[in-house]
Amino acid sequence: MYRVRFLFTGLALVATVASAQTTVGQPGRLLASNCFQCHGTNGKGPGFDSLAGKSSSEIYKELKEFQSGKEGNGIMARHAMGYTDAQMQLIANWFASQK
Ligand code: HEC
Repeated sequence: MYRVRFLFTGLALVATVASAQTTVGQPGRLLASNCFQCHGTNGKGPGFDSLAGKSSSEIYKELKEFQSGKEGNGIMARHAMGYTDAQMQLIANWFASQK
């Protein structure tokens, strides 16, 4: 019983730390780092389509299309599903700022 309660307190703490981290440093950078594995570090290949330097509105629009399930082969839909609109906007802005 006590053990279970301790576990939940621990999880809540981890969640708090994780959300605090998204607010430090360049906005969007930590969220965008989830994309580096496939789209290259900082969104600059090699890998699937390079994202750096695309316009923010284009990246955001594509993410929304993936999220809706109407676009892509399923890989991106699964990624896009995990983000809120505000987070996708941050990610899109960050990639657009990369030259
Ligand atoms: C597991 C690999 C993988 C990860 C991780 C990944 N992507 Fe993708 N992404 C792909 C693949 C594969 C495609 C192209 C295939 C398709 O259309 O579904 C793609 C396509 C895209 C496109 C369309 C590019 C174009 O020029 O048409 C955008 C935008 C995009 N991804 C953004 C992101 C963002 C932002 C993230 C991080 C939140 C991300 N991706 C994470 C594999 C990945």
